[in-house]
Amino acid sequence: MDIMNRLSPERFREVDDVLAFISIYDDVERAYAYRQLLYSLQGLIQNAVCVEAGCGFGWFSAEMARLGARKVYAVEQNAVLVEMARERLAEFPQIEVIHSPIQDFIPPEPVDFLLHEFYGQLLYDEDLHYLNQLKFQPRYVAPNGGELLAGIYPAKDFTDSVVTLDVLQRLDGVLISGLFDDTEAELTFPVMRWRYGQPFDLEQSYRLPEVSGELLAFGVQISHDERPVCRAGVCENWSYVWTYRSGEAFQFTFYPGQAGEEVGFTWLDPAH
Ligand SMILES: C[S@@+](CC[C@H](N)C(=O)[O-])C[C@H]1O[C@@H](n2cnc3c(N)ncnc32)[C@H](O)[C@@H]1O
Repeated sequence: MDIMNRLSPERFREVDDVLAFISIYDDVERAYAYRQLLYSLQGLIQNAVCVEAGCGFGWFSAEMARLGARKVYAVEQNAVLVEMARERLAEFPQIEVIHSPIQDFIPPEPVDFLLHEFYGQLLYDEDLHYLNQLKFQPRYVAPNGGELLAGIYPAKDFTDSVVTLDVLQRLDGVLISGLFDDTEAELTFPVMRWRYGQPFDLEQSYRLPEVSGELLAFGVQISHDERPVCRAGVCENWSYVWTYRSGEAFQFTFYPGQAGEEVGFTWLDPAH
């Protein structure tokens, strides 16, 4: 879905987020995985003060209320989403929808449990960094981990009459999401990990294993307490990100951007 008419940058951002939600909530696997995670943590949610960082439509704030939370602060920075969440969550007296960036939110009481879904296609390229900037210290954060997984494949397993090997070669150095999303790709090794509360290096290099293949795919995996919750290819909200493999070692760099962190990607030993 693309917005076709000219809008102010503020209005564009606002409605672009709302449109993004259509595909986020179409992803039933993602919603199922998050609900399962919340059910598994019910003991921590019951009678607890909870925060949902970036509540969107508020589905999971509602779930925390149903699981017995004493209070839920559903914090969202997008004004249109706040209005929608307020309407949708009106039946839950224990939920308060707060219009604020999470990094500015100062809760009036200690927070027991914080839920978020701030994962980008390349793990750290969306909003995870805001969790380092909180003005409060939640006792428990879920999910508390994530990995960027990768796999190497012979190009012939994915290319077709349009996206041929020479097309891929001309896209050298470019990371492309959704290029071959119809085919499942096995992601076999982690290249980057994030753990809540641990430092995350904004510049990370990685040397590929000795596996032959001209095509490299990345896919995010959300994890909690070292167990997978959801990942690209299963939860369609996250696409595989593809690139032509033109070296053995690469570097990711994350930069502050307008909407999420921007990603730099360079081969450290380009073959040509
Ligand atoms: C991927 S959506 C997840 C929404 C909801 N938590 C869910 O899982 O269905 C991320 C949401 O966080 C909001 N968001 C992103 N950064 C934020 C921030 N710094 N403070 C508050 N909300 C934020 C976005 O507007 C969006 O609604």
